[in-house]
Amino acid sequence: MTKESTSTNNRLGDVHAPSVLIIISGGVSAYKALDLMRMLKKAGIRTPAILTKGGAEFITPLSVSALSGEAVYTDLFSLKDEQEMGHIRLSRDADLIAVIPASANMIARTTHGMADDLASAVLLAADKDVQFYPAMNPQMWANAATQDNIRTLRKRGIEVIEPDSGEVACGEVGKGRLPDIEAIYHSIINKLSLSQRTLPLSGKHAIVTAGPTYERIDPIRFIGNRSSGKQGYAIAGALARQGAKVTLISGPTALDAPHNVKTLHVESAEEMYKAADSALPCDIAICCAAVADWRVDNQSNTKIKKQEGPEGPALTFTENQDILKYISTHPNKRPAFVAGFAAETDNVSENAQQKLLRKGCDALLANHITDADTVFGADENKILYVSAAKNEAQTAPHCEPWDKQSKHGVADMLVRKIIQQLEKAAPLNHTSPITTKLEAI
Ligand code: CTP
Repeated sequence: MTKESTSTNNRLGDVHAPSVLIIISGGVSAYKALDLMRMLKKAGIRTPAILTKGGAEFITPLSVSALSGEAVYTDLFSLKDEQEMGHIRLSRDADLIAVIPASANMIARTTHGMADDLASAVLLAADKDVQFYPAMNPQMWANAATQDNIRTLRKRGIEVIEPDSGEVACGEVGKGRLPDIEAIYHSIINKLSLSQRTLPLSGKHAIVTAGPTYERIDPIRFIGNRSSGKQGYAIAGALARQGAKVTLISGPTALDAPHNVKTLHVESAEEMYKAADSALPCDIAICCAAVADWRVDNQSNTKIKKQEGPEGPALTFTENQDILKYISTHPNKRPAFVAGFAAETDNVSENAQQKLLRKGCDALLANHITDADTVFGADENKILYVSAAKNEAQTAPHCEPWDKQSKHGVADMLVRKIIQQLEKAAPLNHTSPITTKLEAI
């Protein structure tokens, strides 16, 4: 199979956008291809798609085209599709072809060189790298027929990615789950060799703090808070997807580390500060952690026993280093963009503006806490985005209310702001179709 590293033709006029042809075959996990297409689109990668007959049993052509913003192809013999783009051109225009999910049937048909539907004809005519992401029942995966087919495909140069183990849609447990979408995203980015050259934040280092801190009282007790870490983890993932090298410094949370992110686990504010200081220098710092303002300076090495009488133990406190302020005001390692978060119960705008000035950061994302249960641990967030005055004519910080949205949505909006701000200071990546990317995010 002849391999080319770049496509020669695309439909975006003078801006070359990398393109992955996504073939969606039948399987319950077909809907996950939609999430993947959304992520790739945000990175400025085009995702024309072919939905097989089996795939169309699980998702509709309309949902695919709505997400990709491109035509979705379904039928080899559709006159309209053949006029617009023949099946040969479909594979020629892509930089990579990814089959997600790849059903056992799709794998078998490709192995035997079938060409009686659009997906298999495109694969037979392909002159680009092809990746298969299988997802199926564990018995179907383990079956000798499937395993023989996979060996054949691999011998022919097709990359077949091992599925994950766990409970599959039918309730059986074993190998056959589609890998995590973030993992697929990074595998595609690596395959396209984009991380080094075309993503907007390639070559940038970002530090993100997330989660709560635990301040030890004795070996058993601590003072903590209700931060879940979800917002910080979402930001770390979104920065990594735009090509940044990310160091996530996390207090104790129940979350899995995001893909392609170096995650350092800490407990106390002091450990978080030391980890952040050692991770400097960076270009971007996002302080999302709910850091304890004080630590107990008379911690006990043994369990404090209940005292006789009404008074509790006499704890004394020392103030912790303010990590956000430390990074924002660093004399020689001040990152180009620093942002913090603020949870406020009243006077949100006024408090947030004052906090931004006090901490010296470029932006502060403020939450109005009316009911703590709806913020801590929740999947959605409502933000007032406060940014520092841009010039001397504008004296006060600028406030921009964002719609209530998922924490991933907030992360994407913040990353878009970061890209815009860095782009103003210095063009980020001349090889990247940055305008396309910003529109897409
Ligand atoms: N922050 C930090 N280090 C600290 C305290 C806070 O990095 N020791 C960061 C948080 O990660 C957050 C921002 O500062 O991004 C605001 O935190 P907040 O607790 O609201 O700030 P405080 O200065 O403690 O203000 P308040 O008096 O409202 O608690």
